[in-house]
Amino acid sequence: MLHKNIGINKEGRLTFAGMDVVSLAEKYGTPLMLLDEDRIRENIRVYKKAMTENFGEGCFPLFASKALCFKGVYRIAKEEGIGMDAVSVGELYTAEAAGFDLKKAYFHGNNKTDADIAFGVEHGVGTFVVDNADELLALDKHLEKVGKKQRILLRISPGIDPHTFQAVVTGSVDSKFGTPIATGQAEEITRLALSLKNVELVGFHCHVGSQIFDHEPFVDAADIMLRFIAYIRAQTGFTAKELNLGGGLGVRYVESHPHIDYAEVIGEMAAVIKARAAEIGIELPKMVLEPGRSLVADAGMTLYTVGSVKTITGYKNYVSIDGGMPDNPRFALYQSPYTVYNASRAAEEADFPCSVVGRCCESGDIIQENVVIPRPQRGDTVAVAVTGAYNYSMASNYNRIPRPLILLISGGKEKVAVRRETNEDMIANEV
Ligand code: LLP
Repeated sequence: MLHKNIGINKEGRLTFAGMDVVSLAEKYGTPLMLLDEDRIRENIRVYKKAMTENFGEGCFPLFASKALCFKGVYRIAKEEGIGMDAVSVGELYTAEAAGFDLKKAYFHGNNKTDADIAFGVEHGVGTFVVDNADELLALDKHLEKVGKKQRILLRISPGIDPHTFQAVVTGSVDSKFGTPIATGQAEEITRLALSLKNVELVGFHCHVGSQIFDHEPFVDAADIMLRFIAYIRAQTGFTAKELNLGGGLGVRYVESHPHIDYAEVIGEMAAVIKARAAEIGIELPKMVLEPGRSLVADAGMTLYTVGSVKTITGYKNYVSIDGGMPDNPRFALYQSPYTVYNASRAAEEADFPCSVVGRCCESGDIIQENVVIPRPQRGDTVAVAVTGAYNYSMASNYNRIPRPLILLISGGKEKVAVRRETNEDMIANEV
């Protein structure tokens, strides 16, 4: 199977986190998002252990909230003792509402409004990751007004192409994120930060991309960042105490993707980074990573009910399901690959080539093209695996379709973590 939390039971139905998914679909309705809480905790622990073992005490992961945001996920992050990265007041607000201490939050974003800055400072966000000089000045001005100091990192673009798909490349020189080294502006913003009295500069951040399968782009980025740190030390006397390399480790969505051993990749990353720091002649700063996808993606599965099954004679088969791009826009946006199962007939021969499509009034509303599954009938449950990251968080109400219910599964028991959105919810703000 694709991941160890997916199986087939003796009734020939698909299981996830030890539960019969067809029974869950019957009990809770579809579209239904399942989240394997034990798997999220396991993924977090792998990162935590690998980071302290390889980079040293005090080095830890931050959960990148953009991958999945609802209160339950922050409760897990809190219990597991990791930090979080937020890009909006909404993410910070949700974390705080879940009892997550915002001292452990890193506030990102290339356009923090004055209101965002005020909220972050007022709510005690531990670290601001400042994107650009304009934001730095606005932050300092606000801090002056309220008489507070703020710990900050500066987001730097190292200028790396991590060979992943263009839409999620964020570390290149002309990216909308961060301040580039290549143009001299990273040095300028560092000098500016050091000259301001209300911000406490502790180090630098960079993020090279997403869905990356090996350690090389991280090592390349770290190399550039460590050289930058050494250069800044020589020029200004400032020694960075923290280096945050962002997120980006990939996930196995389909059988053709490799199995990734995160502990091994972090070990490889750390070995090279430590050697480079020694060569360059600087002490390794405290290292931070910001995984999103690799903490939650394989903990998710989405269930749908099959509606129409139709054949365009001589061309193709369509299996229409009761969700689609509103709950999973990733094929429409990036042609992302997914593994699809006929959960009701998981043990039968996969002999039906088809496109699994959503219910929206839009041709691009596709979950996956050219899959081969056991021939479905109206009423069957279809499961799409590895949907824990960037599905619920990117969900919309397009065509006024309500967002799905989220079930958290732990120790073979399920509980509702987010109730199904209703038609009333969707018009709640309309006057
Ligand atoms: N830190 C920063 C600053 C980021 O920009 C991102 C992702 C992460 C951490 C987490 O990266 P991860 O570990 O999840 O790869 N919507 C796209 C992904 C966009 C990622 C943007 N930044 C998708 O569905 O594939």
